[in-house]
Amino acid sequence: MKIRTYFIAGGAGFIGSNYVRHVMAKRPDCRVVVFDKLTYAGNRANLEDEIMDERLRFVQGDICDRFLVDREMRGCDVVVNFAAETHVDRSIHNPSAFIQTDILGTHVLLDAARKYGVKRYVQISTDEVYGSIEEGLFTETSPIQPSSPYSASKASADLLVLSYWRTYQMPVVITRASNNFGPFQHPEKLIPLFVTNAMDDKPLPMYGDGLNVRDWLYVEDHCRGIETVIEAGEKGAIYNIGGMCEKTNIEVTRKILETLGKPESLIRRVTDRPGHDRRYALACEPLVALGWRPLESWEVRMEQTIQWYVDRRDWWEALRSGEFEEYYRRQYPDLAKQPD
Ligand code: NAD
Ligand code: TYD
Repeated sequence: MKIRTYFIAGGAGFIGSNYVRHVMAKRPDCRVVVFDKLTYAGNRANLEDEIMDERLRFVQGDICDRFLVDREMRGCDVVVNFAAETHVDRSIHNPSAFIQTDILGTHVLLDAARKYGVKRYVQISTDEVYGSIEEGLFTETSPIQPSSPYSASKASADLLVLSYWRTYQMPVVITRASNNFGPFQHPEKLIPLFVTNAMDDKPLPMYGDGLNVRDWLYVEDHCRGIETVIEAGEKGAIYNIGGMCEKTNIEVTRKILETLGKPESLIRRVTDRPGHDRRYALACEPLVALGWRPLESWEVRMEQTIQWYVDRRDWWEALRSGEFEEYYRRQYPDLAKQPD
């Protein structure tokens, strides 16, 4: 059997690095090219031991760089694209980087993958492309109605990816996952932000009434879902990957505080996010039909995740300095007006 060579764009980010670890553990015979720009969100430290493994080749590069992508993708048979600007709040302040990387970068990857005739091109998309849903669940045929510049960029990329299937019969597949949590998530996102703030008795900035609902998916379950789709997914298809676990933000926050033994008085209401989607919720029948399901309860995964941040202060403290401090002051001006 031919050795499988993965081209993993964005493989030094949160989900990408967990996926690299997953694939290298499950497939002793694989080869992996991690192609990552190392933006503020990308970090070699996320790849831990894997970066020293001779099966992995790390390339620092921008997916918008046609020449470099073309050179580095040669010989790869599976392309998985995690590379993106990913934070909704940052997209509200500055959409340009999102349009550049999430749309134009995807186009560059598609062209190279087409040129090399890859066996699978997997676009890692998001449930946010569907917009917000008050009741019921989004299926893969629900219309896309993105709210933020982030989700609009991801939705645009999805359309481009599908066009390469319909026009060129490129063997693409799109996954749309719900909110991920787990180790190595940047502390700008809800769960790591609130865990690390609570650990240091800092206020937890809750947008609006705290009743927005997200469907939480443990990152390892997401990685298994991607592998399932690579092995058994239909070409040109879309697969939702949901955690089957809806929680309001206040429920998530209480779980964090209770696990860490911290008081609810740390919660601070701050001005709501503009265009804040009220609820995301996914039906995942096509993936479940392929034998996939989340393996553990949310409670257990949350406790493991919180413990990981408790143990890995060395990892997250470095990310909370420098650029992050400036971002934090700009993003949460209300906190400066309220006493700790
Ligand atoms: P992340 O922000 O942690 O990582 C993104 C990675 O992409 C970083 O390593 C960064 O350096 C890299 N990158 C950014 N711009 C690049 C460019 N121009 N060229 C090359 N590399 C670049 O993001 P994440 O949370 O791991 O998300 C990964 C993917 O999964 C994204 O496509 C995102 O839309 C999707 N997704 C995320 C979630 C979630 O809850 N985090 C849920 C559903 C889908
Ligand atoms: P986030 O982790 O940014 O993911 P997304 O916006 O992609 O769903 O936010 C998850 C939820 O938490 C969302 O409803 C916004 C809310 N939130 C806060 O209330 N305060 C915060 O500081 C952050 C970052 C998010």
